[in-house]
Amino acid sequence: MKVAFFGDVHGCVLHALGAAVTLARHRGIQLDAVIQVGDLGAFPSPERWDEASRRFGADNPAQSDFFRLLAPSPRLAEGVRLALREIPPFLFVSGNHEDHQWLAGLHHAADSPVTPVDPLGAYRHVTCGHITEVAGQRVAFLGKIEWPGSMDFDDDAYTRLLALEPGSVDILVTHDGPYGMSSWRGTTQGSRKLTELIERLQPRLHISGHYHHQNGPRHYGATTSYALGLLVGPKVNIRDSTSVNPRQQVTPGSIGLLDTRTDEFEYVHDPWLADIHGEHLDLATLLTATQ
Ligand SMILES: [Fe+2]
Repeated sequence: MKVAFFGDVHGCVLHALGAAVTLARHRGIQLDAVIQVGDLGAFPSPERWDEASRRFGADNPAQSDFFRLLAPSPRLAEGVRLALREIPPFLFVSGNHEDHQWLAGLHHAADSPVTPVDPLGAYRHVTCGHITEVAGQRVAFLGKIEWPGSMDFDDDAYTRLLALEPGSVDILVTHDGPYGMSSWRGTTQGSRKLTELIERLQPRLHISGHYHHQNGPRHYGATTSYALGLLVGPKVNIRDSTSVNPRQQVTPGSIGLLDTRTDEFEYVHDPWLADIHGEHLDLATLLTATQ
C-alpha cells in the first residue's frame, strides 16, 4: 500500500489536496492514506490566529485557504469533492500553530479521537496518543512539541506511548523532530523526549515536521526517521525582505511517499510540484486541467 506524508501546511490546504491528487496521478498509484504532520493551520477564524500565523498570513494569502475550506464557495467545494474522489481524507496531528482548544471541542462533540474539521471532510484531526491501523500499518500519533506551555506534548499521551511494547507500532507520526537533527542560529533543534520515545518504541518508521526542511534518513536502532519540509514556503523572507517563493508553489522535500510492501520511503522532488502554485489556487481548475 502507498501512504503519502505531508509537511507543515500552514493554511495552504488547497495546495495540499492538489499535490496529493497530482502525486497519485503522476505515479499512477492509489494513495491508501495521506497523513499530515501538524501545523495544518487549523484555526476556526482569522481572529483566532496566533501571533506568528497572523504575521505570515498577512503576506501569504494562500495561508487563509483553511478559512475558505471552512465556509466553502460552490467552486471550492467542487474542487475538494473532485480531489476526494481520488484520494482519502488527510489525517493530521496538532502542530504548535493550531487552535488546540477548538480542536479539543470538535473531538468532544464527536466523541471520537479522529474527527473531521471541515464541512467537506477533507481533513481529519487525530488526538495525541491515538493509535490506529492505517493502510495496514499500526500508526501512533503524537502532536505538539517539547516546549513549556500550551503547545507542549500531552503528558498522558506521551507516557502512554512510552509504556508500549517496543516494536508494537509500525509508524510514529509526530510534529516535533528528534533532538540534534539540525541547528538554527546556534541552537540545537529537536526534542530529547521524542528521541527517548523513538529509542524506546522502535517503530520501523518515524515521520515529523516542524523545522520546515527536509532532514533524513536518520537512524535510531530499528527506526528510520524522516523530517518533511514546509509545503509552501513564504513569498518573502521576513528577515531581509528578499523574494523566496513568489509563485507560492509547493516545495520539493515537503512530501514523502511510503510503499508499505517494500518499506521504501522517498522524498518527492518531482518537477510537477511547481505546477501546484498560486495565491488563490482554484483546485477544480487544477484538477480538471491536468487530467
Ligand atoms: Fe510549522
